[in-house]
Amino acid sequence: MKIGKGIDKAIKLLDANKVVGLPTETVYGLAANAFEDEAVLKIFEVKNRPSFNPLIIHTDSLEKVKGFVKELPLKAQLLGRAFWPGPMTLLLPKSNKVGDLVTSGSSLVAVRIPNHPIALDLLSRLEYPLAAPSANKFGSISPTVPEAVEQQLGAGVEYILDGGLCNVGIESTIIGFNDDGSAVIYRTGGLSLEDIEEVIGKVTINEKSHEKPLTSGMLKSHYSPTTPFYVGSIDEMLIRFSGKKIGVLSFCKDYTKQSAANFILSPKHDLHEVAKNLFNFMRLIDEVDLDVILAEFVPNEGLGRGVNDRLQRADHKNK
Ligand code: TXA
Ligand code: MG
Repeated sequence: MKIGKGIDKAIKLLDANKVVGLPTETVYGLAANAFEDEAVLKIFEVKNRPSFNPLIIHTDSLEKVKGFVKELPLKAQLLGRAFWPGPMTLLLPKSNKVGDLVTSGSSLVAVRIPNHPIALDLLSRLEYPLAAPSANKFGSISPTVPEAVEQQLGAGVEYILDGGLCNVGIESTIIGFNDDGSAVIYRTGGLSLEDIEEVIGKVTINEKSHEKPLTSGMLKSHYSPTTPFYVGSIDEMLIRFSGKKIGVLSFCKDYTKQSAANFILSPKHDLHEVAKNLFNFMRLIDEVDLDVILAEFVPNEGLGRGVNDRLQRADHKNK
């Protein structure tokens, strides 16, 4: 069985520098020993990922994080204490323990303590941290169920730890720090701006610069389904595409009568539920035989910011 709950089996594979599918509360990761170049190289290979796109290092305690970084600025300490384990990644100056391959040559390392019992159990039993990007092929939707990891990576991954459907459902929020100590969000995600500002005060969002190492065209279609996917006013687009076989990915309204397939992200308007369902519903609706998928933005607050960012990137108009 490729999908299972065997933590000992996962440890054996990881000790042998192999890659393993890792459940976290955000999305599934493709994990390997972050301290072994041979293992890290395997991640880039299996994922089809350009080696200039650095990886996040995962561990299970703030004490261990301290070993991977040169310094832990005050705001990073406050954030770590408030939100780890959780859907937050911090960009910090790396210590000598962290190699150049995993950071793609950058002097900063991305670190995260994931909030998932299986991930935490595994990490606490390892002598090394795990490098793990989302377990999708480069350019596809991130997996939030183990079956989606298998679908995406097939023979590339020997074993996937089964942690069920990810609770948060979109990737972690990435936060870095300016020289003056102020914090910047480089990727919106599973931890909301409002929650962050409650702990450290005003924060700016700068999603452009986090994509700097890549040409923008490469990342624009990052989360795209294969069926043409349009985001906008569903009612207007239903008229524009009438006569086509239409799928609808709606926020809370029911479109079963007006479409061939309708997935409703959260009938009760709950943005946590929207985030949790987003990638799984994008994957499932993409499996239906459709001409076009219509989706709409959700309120741009809380987790809605991260959700809207993923919808924007999936929009066919941006290809
Ligand atoms: O929720 C998540 O963050 C998931 C789970 C598995 O932890 N991981 C994830 O990894 O989304 P990935 O590789 O798909 O996205 C990580 C992002 C990349 O866009 C990468 O460019 C950025 O983090 N990143 C990683 N290390 C960095 C560094 N040293 N400097 C700047 N950006 C970095
Ligand atoms: Mg990714």
